[in-house]
Amino acid sequence: MIMWSLCFLFSLSDLILVFASSAKHLCPPDQRDALWEFKSEFSVQELDSSWWESDLKTERWRSNTDCCAWDGISCDSKTGTVVELDLWGSSLNGPLRSNSSLFRLQHLQSLNLSSNNLPGILPDSIGNLKYLRVLKLCYCNFFGKILSSLGNLSYLTDLDLSVNQFSGELPDSMGNLNRLSELQLRYNNLGGNFPAVLLNLSELTQISLSYNKFKGMLPSNMSSLTNLEYLDINGNLFYGPLPSPLFMIPSLIQLNLEGNSFSGPIEIKNISSPSNLEVLSLGENNFDAPIQGSLSKLAGLRTLELNYMNTRIMVDLSYLSHLKSLSYLDLSGNDLKFSSTLRLPYLGFLFLSSCNIVEFPKFLQNQTRLLLLDISVNQIEGKVPEWFWRLEIPHVNISQNYVSGFDGSADVIQRTGGVVTLDISSNAFREPFPLLPNSTNYLFGSDNLFSGEIPRTICDLVYLERLVLSNNNFSGSIPLCLSTYLSVLHLRNNSISSVFPEDFISNMLISLDLGYNRLSGGLPKSLINCTRLQFLNVEENRISDTFPFWLRVLPNLEILVLRSNEFHGPISSFSLPKLRIFDISRNRFTGVLQSDFFAGWGAMSLPVVYFEGDSQYRFSGVGKPYYQASVALTNKGSNMKLVGSGFTIYKTIDISGNRFEGGIPESIGLLKELIVLNMSNNAFTGRIPPSLSNITSLQSLDLSQNQLSGKIPPEIAKLTFLAWMNFSYNRLEGPIPQGTQIQSQNISSFAENPELCGVPLQKTCGGGEGAINQEQEDEDEDEEKDQVLSWTAAAIAYLPGVFCGFTLGHILTSYRHGWFMMISTML
Ligand SMILES: *[C@@H]1O[C@H](CO)[C@@H](O)[C@H](O)[C@H]1NC(C)=O
Ligand SMILES: *[C@@H]1O[C@H](CO)[C@@H](O)[C@H](O)[C@H]1NC(C)=O
Ligand SMILES: *[C@@H]1O[C@H](CO)[C@@H](O)[C@H](O)[C@H]1NC(C)=O
Ligand SMILES: *[C@@H]1O[C@H](CO)[C@@H](O)[C@H](O)[C@H]1NC(C)=O
Ligand SMILES: *[C@@H]1O[C@H](CO)[C@@H](O)[C@H](O)[C@H]1NC(C)=O
Ligand SMILES: *[C@@H]1O[C@H](CO)[C@@H](O)[C@H](O)[C@H]1NC(C)=O
Ligand SMILES: *[C@@H]1O[C@H](CO)[C@@H](O)[C@H](O)[C@H]1NC(C)=O
Ligand SMILES: *[C@@H]1O[C@H](CO)[C@@H](O)[C@H](O)[C@H]1NC(C)=O
Ligand SMILES: *[C@@H]1O[C@H](CO)[C@@H](O)[C@H](O)[C@H]1NC(C)=O
Ligand SMILES: *[C@@H]1O[C@H](CO)[C@@H](O)[C@H](O)[C@H]1NC(C)=O
Ligand SMILES: *[C@@H]1O[C@H](CO)[C@@H](O)[C@H](O)[C@H]1NC(C)=O
Ligand SMILES: *[C@@H]1O[C@H](CO)[C@@H](O)[C@H](O)[C@H]1NC(C)=O
Repeated sequence: MIMWSLCFLFSLSDLILVFASSAKHLCPPDQRDALWEFKSEFSVQELDSSWWESDLKTERWRSNTDCCAWDGISCDSKTGTVVELDLWGSSLNGPLRSNSSLFRLQHLQSLNLSSNNLPGILPDSIGNLKYLRVLKLCYCNFFGKILSSLGNLSYLTDLDLSVNQFSGELPDSMGNLNRLSELQLRYNNLGGNFPAVLLNLSELTQISLSYNKFKGMLPSNMSSLTNLEYLDINGNLFYGPLPSPLFMIPSLIQLNLEGNSFSGPIEIKNISSPSNLEVLSLGENNFDAPIQGSLSKLAGLRTLELNYMNTRIMVDLSYLSHLKSLSYLDLSGNDLKFSSTLRLPYLGFLFLSSCNIVEFPKFLQNQTRLLLLDISVNQIEGKVPEWFWRLEIPHVNISQNYVSGFDGSADVIQRTGGVVTLDISSNAFREPFPLLPNSTNYLFGSDNLFSGEIPRTICDLVYLERLVLSNNNFSGSIPLCLSTYLSVLHLRNNSISSVFPEDFISNMLISLDLGYNRLSGGLPKSLINCTRLQFLNVEENRISDTFPFWLRVLPNLEILVLRSNEFHGPISSFSLPKLRIFDISRNRFTGVLQSDFFAGWGAMSLPVVYFEGDSQYRFSGVGKPYYQASVALTNKGSNMKLVGSGFTIYKTIDISGNRFEGGIPESIGLLKELIVLNMSNNAFTGRIPPSLSNITSLQSLDLSQNQLSGKIPPEIAKLTFLAWMNFSYNRLEGPIPQGTQIQSQNISSFAENPELCGVPLQKTCGGGEGAINQEQEDEDEDEEKDQVLSWTAAAIAYLPGVFCGFTLGHILTSYRHGWFMMISTML
């Protein structure tokens, strides 16, 4: 809470500073020219990221006006020189060169180029800006070493290089930054031992090295950092014992050591002045001696994370009762037995996921102040006891157990009230569906055994925002009386069989998944009012309609999946600027696609600014990752399922299995960022457009089973990522283009094109034909599957998210549990 308000205060004082210095002053011509040149060094192209809304500041600069009044510029009130440049999220593209005119702005005190695409090294010349106090270059795609000239910035107080690909060790010259107060380096590839140079920087209050490759033991003299308040070294390769002086830094408030290989006992010597430590994360390490004695000395702890520890060291939890201020406790991933006498301080947040718990623990009965309980992924059987609801916990997660129902009367949950989030997914619940209080915002009940109609009592939940009941056996129709706040409705894989209702629910919808049901009729036009809609999936139903052109008024639509229905008729060109996954395969579409067909699909040509941390937020709005959307996809000839992070990087088009005819639209070449293109099993004729070779990101191309003729364009050989392609069953002719990717393809990728010749086909182009070796082919296929698998695994990697700069550990770790929104609201 204190940190939170501090942050707020800081940003407030930042604001005041900006206002004070933005008083109008004519900007010196040399500064104006430097800025104008700087602008011209980059192309401005909107970037595709879920993390920020672009604000194209430089586009609004006008050369004939005072540059001190330009967006993002502040000048010194006396001299008029430019002292602050904030082009955060301005969609600048291109490397920052060492001769950039930026380095002529000698008086800069604050430079913020975060969230732009500046692939390249951070040039030496940064050392010219010797008055810099604040340097923020987070999320910029920089790579290479951090150069020693950074050490020339001796006024620097605030340095943020997070979320880039910086590698190597920190330069020794950083030892000169003796005013440095905040150092943020999270999410890079930096390595080496804990940077000893930092130990001389006694003004440091915040250090974040999390998610890098730092290794070795922590130095024993860290107590020289006498002002340190926040140390975050999460997710590195540190090992060895924790130096006990670390806990002696009296200013230390937050210590985040999770996800390393620390071992040994945790020793906290008798502390003369009381520790100020409020947040301690020790999870996912290899500590191997009991920790209780030591931790009980940290009397001020409010947040304690002991998730995925070595269970043996946690047998006795009674020491926790000494931590009177404790409010947030994470014991997930430990094999826990709770003694009947266990007393814990009154907690607000308790995580007991994956603890091998077999029943609702009795000690909970006294935890009457809980705001959140996560008891998911355990072995709890039977019914939820009646007393549990008397605790009135707003956010309850009992997913992934074997629970089959609720003890007590039908309204047992409703009567006590208070439930806001209820996650009962992946259990054995069956009817009756529980009656819930109207405070319910989020209801997740997928993967259970519910059947019958979706109970209409759900309509009393007037504040319901998310309803996920996928993978049950609900039948009947979709209730039309759902909350007008509903933003997520997932009823995937049930047996809902009615006609698709014409009047459709909430205008607030962001994500609608009704795939794998038995819906018939047309898509409801009322969706036209859902301007926030990002995700629409109705695959595998019996919807019979023409193409829903009216969807083009939905500016946010990113994913459209109509796969396997009875859609029919021709499709004329339409524009959906954010579309990234377009799957209309296995329908009955017909006709010719105009040559500009793909011209209005901007997102598929924008470079992705991506790192793993993006993953699960994409479709939930930042910080609301409670449900996962999923899409089936045929990629590289195999079926796969995209969940979570898959969405962030995938840009795919699948129009296979229809009856499209005529030529493949030339405009396909505009979609430079497309990864998967499947146009197979149609009646396309004519040549393969050479513009295909402009899709430089393409990894999988399927044009098989059409009537394409002419040669395969030789430019295709330049597509270095194109790992899988299929041209079989066409009328292609002439030599197969030469390129390693192509020659390594399976023969079957080119089969049944009588006039095609050259490697990998056995038919040489001068004539002469060999028989296809079936065994060889099978082997190739296996190999291919392996490749697809590893590729899929990489794509579906799953990491917690991150913003630039610091996030309170409290909140950061909450992401992992998926509760971010609620916690931040409650704070
Ligand atoms: C800066 O250097 C690049 C090559 O590194 C060069 O192409 C460019 O012309 C130079 N710009 C100026 C203004 O000197
Ligand atoms: C950094 O400082 C050193 C020593 O003062 C000087 O030699 C060097 O030229 C400076 N580098 C830059 C890029 O300013
Ligand atoms: C500067 O960059 C940071 C990220 O490094 C960003 O959060 C912030 O909003 C930017 N702007 C200002 C005025 O600090
Ligand atoms: C720290 O500072 C001391 C004296 O100021 C110096 O001798 C030492 O080399 C410095 N250490 C590092 C790692 O920079
Ligand atoms: C800390 O200890 C290391 C060796 O372990 C030494 O190189 C460094 O100078 C020491 N720094 C301070 C500030 O004492
Ligand atoms: C630490 O304090 C406890 C009691 O407060 C005492 O029993 C113990 O001997 C002390 N240990 C040291 C090393 O001073
Ligand atoms: C709950 O608290 C009461 C008194 O505060 C105590 O008597 C009882 O033993 C506690 N029960 C559990 C399960 O901790
Ligand atoms: C919510 O339910 C409570 C009691 O069940 C009732 O008093 C209240 O009017 C309801 N609120 C709304 C908005 O329906
Ligand atoms: C699903 O529900 C139908 C009735 O709606 C029933 O006939 C069928 O047996 C149920 N299937 C399962 C697996 O429970
Ligand atoms: C969209 O909303 C407006 C106003 O709420 C309503 O009049 C209109 O009928 C709606 N459109 C559709 C297609 O439902
Ligand atoms: C590929 O793109 C470039 C520009 O990015 C364009 O000049 C060229 O004509 C395109 N090639 C084809 C074959 O469309
Ligand atoms: C509940 O727990 C499961 C498993 O730990 C997790 O995947 C899910 O996101 C959690 N639900 C909510 C609403 O946070």
